[in-house]
Amino acid sequence: MKVGIDLIHFATADYYLGLDTFAAEKQIDVEKYTIGIGQEKMSIAPPDEDVVSLAAKAAAPILEQISREEISAILFATETGVDQSKSAGAFLHGLLGLSNRCRVVEFKHACYAGAAALQMATTMVRANPNENILVIAADIAKYDIDTSGEATQGCGAVAMLVTENPRIIAIEPGSGYYTNDVMDFWRPNHRTTALVDGKYSTKVYLNSLKHAWEHFTEQTKRNFNDIDYFCYHIPFTKMAEKAHKTLAKKVGVKLTQADFEKQTLPSQAYNRIIGNSYSASLFVGFISLLDNVRDNIEGKRVSFFSYGSGCVAEFFTGIMQTGYQSVLMTQQQQDNISQRKPLSYAAYLDFYHQADVNPDNIIYQKTNKGPYRLVGIEDYKRYYEKV
Ligand code: CAA
Repeated sequence: MKVGIDLIHFATADYYLGLDTFAAEKQIDVEKYTIGIGQEKMSIAPPDEDVVSLAAKAAAPILEQISREEISAILFATETGVDQSKSAGAFLHGLLGLSNRCRVVEFKHACYAGAAALQMATTMVRANPNENILVIAADIAKYDIDTSGEATQGCGAVAMLVTENPRIIAIEPGSGYYTNDVMDFWRPNHRTTALVDGKYSTKVYLNSLKHAWEHFTEQTKRNFNDIDYFCYHIPFTKMAEKAHKTLAKKVGVKLTQADFEKQTLPSQAYNRIIGNSYSASLFVGFISLLDNVRDNIEGKRVSFFSYGSGCVAEFFTGIMQTGYQSVLMTQQQQDNISQRKPLSYAAYLDFYHQADVNPDNIIYQKTNKGPYRLVGIEDYKRYYEKV
C-alpha cells in the first residue's frame, strides 16, 4: 500500500528584510550572511499575519482540489502557536470552513513537529485508507534584536494532503530517530522570541544526524548511495551543506562538488530567500527541490532529515511518483516569493515590536495582503478574515 503526499503547497509572508540591508544596519560584512551562513533574505510577517493566516494561505489551493467534506483530520505542527490551549488547527478549521466531522490537533517539538505530523498522518492512512489528512507545518522564526539568531529569522507554512496512492511522493516505511534532552534552543512560555545557544545547537544538529542515520540504516538496510536527493532541516542553508558533508564523511563517500550540488542544492534555493521557518523548513526544502531540480525525478528516492532542538531528530525517505510534475504548484509559489515587498530596517523593527506584545484588545492595520489575515483580538479572543 502506497501512502504519502498527494498535494503540497507553501506560503510565506508578503514582506522581507534583505540581509544586505541588515548587514549595512549592523555594519557587518554582508558576506558573513551570503557566504558564511548562506542566506540572502528573511520573510517577515506583519502584525496581522500569524501561523493560522499563513497556514490558511498555504492550504487554500489544496482545498480547491478536494471537497472540504473529505478532510478527516488537520494535524497542525508549530512551535509558534497562538494559544496555550486551543490548537492553531481549530482556528484554521473555522477559517477554511471545514466539516465538523474532522479531528484537529496541534503538534509541538521545535522544528521536528512537521515530520512527526507527517509520519502520524501516514500511519493513520495505513490504518484507514479513506482518510484524507491535511498536515500543516507553520512557523514564524523570531529571535531577540542584536543576537546572533537575528539574521536567521523568517517564516512560512507548508500544507500537505496525505492520502493513499499519493500523486507526489510515497513515504517509505521505516525511519531512524534520535532523542536527547539538551538545551540548545528553547522558548519559555512567556516569551515571543526563542533563546538559543547558537554554536552548540549546530553541533547537536550534526550529532543527531549521525545517530538518526545509524538507526535509519539499521532499520531499513538502505545506504547513502540508495538516495538520489537529500532534504535537510534548514535553519540557514550553510547548515544543510555542513549536514550533507558530515553525512558523506560518516559513510565514507567522497563527494565531488557536482555530487554535492546535484544532491542538495535545488532543495536550498527557496530557504535561502525565505529564512528559517522552523517546522516548515524541511518541507519548504522539499518543495524547493521539486520546483528547482532540472530533471524529471520520477522513481527517485528522496531523503528527509528533520531536526528539532531540544532535541528530536528523524531520518526517513520517500519515492517520487510517476506524473508528480503535473500536480506541482510552482507558479503560485514563485509568485508569492517574488511579489514580496522589501522592508527597511526601521520598518522591520516596527513590525517586530508590534507583534512582540500580546494585547487583550486590538484591531490590526491591514498590512497582510491575504488571502487570510488576523483582524484583531477582543477580550483575548483572536478573529480572522478572508481578505
Ligand atoms: N565572509 C564569509 N564568511 C564569514 C564572514 C565573512 N565576512 N564572517 C563570518 N563568516 C563565517 C564564519 O566563519 C562562520 O562559518 P563556519 O560556521 O563555517 O565557521 C559563519 O560565517 C558564521 O559566523 P559566526 O559563527 O561568527 O556567526 P554567529 O556567531 O553570528 O552565529 C549562528 C552563527 C550560531 C548560526 C547564529 O546565526 C545562530 O545562533 N542562529 C540560530 C540558531 C540556529 O539556527 N541553529 C542551527 C541548529 S539548531 C536548528 O536547526 C533548529 C532551529 O531551526 C533553530
